[in-house]
Amino acid sequence: MRVLSVDPQQPDGRAIAEAAAAIRAGRLVVFPTETVYGLGARAADPAAVKRIFEVKGRPPRHPLIVHVLGEAEAKTQASEWPPLASDLAKAFWPGPLTLVVPKGPSVPPEATGGGDTVALRAPSHPVARALIAAVGEPIVAPSANRYQSLSPTRAEHVIAALGDQDLIILDGGPCPSGIESTVVDVRGAEPRVLRPGALSIEALRAVVPSLAFVPMVANPDSIRPSPGMDARHYAPRTPLVLAKDRADAIARTSDLVDAGELKVAVVLIGEPLLAKEPDPGAPVHVLPGHPDAAGAALYALLYELDEENLTRVVVQAPPDEPGWEAVADRLRRAASSSC
Ligand code: TXA
Ligand code: MG
Repeated sequence: MRVLSVDPQQPDGRAIAEAAAAIRAGRLVVFPTETVYGLGARAADPAAVKRIFEVKGRPPRHPLIVHVLGEAEAKTQASEWPPLASDLAKAFWPGPLTLVVPKGPSVPPEATGGGDTVALRAPSHPVARALIAAVGEPIVAPSANRYQSLSPTRAEHVIAALGDQDLIILDGGPCPSGIESTVVDVRGAEPRVLRPGALSIEALRAVVPSLAFVPMVANPDSIRPSPGMDARHYAPRTPLVLAKDRADAIARTSDLVDAGELKVAVVLIGEPLLAKEPDPGAPVHVLPGHPDAAGAALYALLYELDEENLTRVVVQAPPDEPGWEAVADRLRRAASSSC
């Protein structure tokens, strides 16, 4: 492993050139995006793409996202570019939006899990853009974590999980959005959200009012809407209990403590414990009261709680309001994988 520190706004050209040369030589490079860190390879290099699956321990049928500079490059990876893809790319690229379209012949089947569709996204992070530009070709990258673990929002998270691998890591500091991109299937007349993410559904519906989104239900046996969307994705190591609201979170924590569980913590949203609220008898952590800020802080907090080797963490469910879909989705998945 080799770690190269880069300025997230103006990455050093030498570091980018070294990383791009490594990708062109078939090696893997970890790089920051505005959402989470990605584990990148040249999309057109099947052997390197296979190695991504080995390093992550990910089953081969789970497709990857192909990262491009913009719409023109995206079209070279697709066999069809629907008008809706164009509308959304024009409105939100570069940014945390991934579009699923029919796959073009230049994308190897290894990258798409053998399927005939491809997921494309143009990231806005200057380091990701500089790397794609220097390689001169699209880069496939899943989140740079082991299969079924939390996505990394800092280089340290990657080093802890994958530090024993032959990788170059471009360390550009914390990822600003901190939650993965929103994945939208734009084939056919009925566009639908496959994964809520950093770009809010509200923002997308301003451009595509008919956009469908069916939130994941709490039952972990529910039907998977797309490969890679099983309930066990995005799981912290610490068992997580999702409480229905703030009072419920405090009460359930107290109950666990009263029942003799010593290593418990509670996560509240918006404000720290107020003087008028009962003391849960366990450490209180707080996620910001705005969904974007909560998304940015979520994984770093869950990683931090994992370090504490707690027996359980109780988390207040986010409000059932527009904007909170992605944070609510990740917390439901984290909770359903640990029951
Ligand atoms: O923000 C992100 O999207 C990050 C950064 C690195 O770009 N990447 C990321 O990749 O989260 P990954 O592999 O961890 O998640 C990719 C998601 C999965 O939910 C997968 O099912 C979906 O995209 N996906 C990929 N290709 C697809 C396809 N052809 N059809 C449907 N869903 C697809
Ligand atoms: Mg992932």
